[in-house]
Amino acid sequence: MHKSVLLHEVIDGLNIKKGDIFVDGTLGGGGHSEEVCKRFSDTVSIIGIDLDPDAILRAKERLNLLNQNIKYAQDSFRNIDTILDSLNIKQVDRILFDIGLSSNQFEDSGRGFSFQKDEPLIMSFKKDVTEKDLTAREILNSWDEENIRAILEGYGEEQFAWKISKAIVARREIKPIETTFDLVEIIKSATPKFYHHRKIHPATKTFQALRITVNDEIESLKEGVLKGFERLNKNGRLAVISFHSLEDRVVKQFFKELNIQGVATTITRKPITPSEKEINLNPRARSAKLRIIEKL
Ligand SMILES: C[S@@+](CC[C@H](N)C(=O)[O-])C[C@H]1O[C@@H](n2cnc3c(N)ncnc32)[C@H](O)[C@@H]1O
Repeated sequence: MHKSVLLHEVIDGLNIKKGDIFVDGTLGGGGHSEEVCKRFSDTVSIIGIDLDPDAILRAKERLNLLNQNIKYAQDSFRNIDTILDSLNIKQVDRILFDIGLSSNQFEDSGRGFSFQKDEPLIMSFKKDVTEKDLTAREILNSWDEENIRAILEGYGEEQFAWKISKAIVARREIKPIETTFDLVEIIKSATPKFYHHRKIHPATKTFQALRITVNDEIESLKEGVLKGFERLNKNGRLAVISFHSLEDRVVKQFFKELNIQGVATTITRKPITPSEKEINLNPRARSAKLRIIEKL
């Protein structure tokens, strides 16, 4: 099961009170919402959002016995405004975005998030992708070499972006790139031996860049925090946990602007990061950064 990151730091930092409406914009395994339910049961209403229908199902099983006041939306948090409109809710009190991917998706989604399993290259948080939805397979088999290189550099900070993108284009001329293992093989063939024996797997950055692109993660985050902040009540709080410097930069910059405009105050002057104990128990937490802001 997904281990929630910075669980107590988030719930304490949001300073939730009885009667609040709390939006969990990334339900995932439902861990953060479960903590809210344990502390407040039905006295806090929860709106649980996730793009992945499996996450919603898992969360329902976990939460429904603890709190009868939960509404679920299978949608992107970038649509938080229309989600709230459809529920006839104007303003809310607390919002959490714990962005990225859950361990469940990494381990059992079958959608190609992990380079350790041979799966189709989908990488979408959505489960039922249609022709209209972008997939990693489409990027790898149809995008220009320069565009592939640009995302590997921009979203993956991959030092061998040039070599990997070249190898991708050469390989797809022979046959389409279909699975995660096809991609891992290409990355290994394009990178020097020393790169294969480091702490992080040589495919880590390429996979991250593809996932961020497929899910339009940076733009979703920008839209989500902007629309979420607009819908907060006075003294409402917004918390974001990010796992990547690009995402953290978006949040930091947005919070800074709100402070300059005098419409909010940042609760976390420096981002909160997991303790060594948490990192030992859950190594995936190591790059997490939590920032919280309060509306004035
Ligand atoms: C790290 S997990 C959340 C874990 C959760 N806080 C917990 O404690 O169990 C991130 C979740 O966000 C979802 N997600 C990612 N981007 C999303 C978006 N734009 N809109 C809605 N859900 C999104 C993913 O499908 C995933 O289930």
